[in-house]
Amino acid sequence: MNNIYADTPENIQKAAACIINGGLVAFPTETVYGLGANVYNARAVANIFAAKQRPHFDPLISHIADVDFLKEYAATDERVFALAKRFWPGPLTFVLRRIEENPSIDLACSGLRTLTVRMPDHPMALALIKAAGVPIVAPSANKYQSISPTTAQHVADGLGDKVDMILDGGACKVGVESTILDLTSKQAVMLRAGGTAKEDIEAFLGEKIILSEGNPNLPTAPGQLLRHYAPKNTLRINITTPEADEFFIGFGACNGDLNLSKRGDLHEAAANLFAYLRLADAQAQHGKIAIAPIPQIGLGLAINDRIRRASYKK
Ligand code: TXA
Ligand code: MG
Repeated sequence: MNNIYADTPENIQKAAACIINGGLVAFPTETVYGLGANVYNARAVANIFAAKQRPHFDPLISHIADVDFLKEYAATDERVFALAKRFWPGPLTFVLRRIEENPSIDLACSGLRTLTVRMPDHPMALALIKAAGVPIVAPSANKYQSISPTTAQHVADGLGDKVDMILDGGACKVGVESTILDLTSKQAVMLRAGGTAKEDIEAFLGEKIILSEGNPNLPTAPGQLLRHYAPKNTLRINITTPEADEFFIGFGACNGDLNLSKRGDLHEAAANLFAYLRLADAQAQHGKIAIAPIPQIGLGLAINDRIRRASYKK
């Protein structure tokens, strides 16, 4: 079944109708492809978890195209709007306190007292949200614990006909998921390193933010599970001299079968990361992959976080 749809106004309208009617639409964002549903439709939200084969419910990110949605559901202040003005649309997700009992978004929020929300920086995503007229909740459009999709074809390979439509907006330009920032208290806490660099947020706020490593035995986020983003083959990280039988993913001067970024650019490396993990999975002859060291600055935090979890042995 070919359910990949090109970027046309007709297809976006069709996808919006599908969302409104309770269907599942995979759509591109600047980070990774999302598996979207109408935030107000609990049955559709439940179907997301079934399609992903995620064993439990878990709070989802609401994708919005208009900042005003926040006022309806979340406790906002100057800091929230200033951050939104500076970083939205873009790969930064806020965790905010919910202000009122509004059962219509309970399942999307997993019953928590918080709302998780971002405005994606992709014209097709924004057009879809506007056409649907509702926030679209979406986790990454991949099966539980597998590698996040950065092309429409990745979504089709992983989820196939479990999704009604896949909108094709090309390869994702950021390539790792959004940074998640908990703003429920005075001290901002980063729950997941991602496409917005910690340094950029700190420079804007003029204060340090705490990086939460999470408790692996009690994850607040599957992204905090030790094993996540998992390739089929074994993966070793921080390797400068790979074994002869390892498929080697290089970085900068440390060259390999593939190179995340020959010029050592962390944005380029992030954009290539998930696609290269898939390629390595398909091409490794001996079931083994190794990755060169990635500097722990800027988007390197997100890259190192993902490959560390991908390398975790069961
Ligand atoms: O870039 C992204 O963020 C992509 C695109 C599609 O927007 N979305 C994405 O969603 O990565 P997902 O569901 O795969 O990852 C969101 C993570 C989950 O691990 C979830 O547990 C965590 O965020 N999360 C959501 N709300 C939370 C909350 N209130 N408190 C703690 N963690 C939360
Ligand atoms: Mg995910």
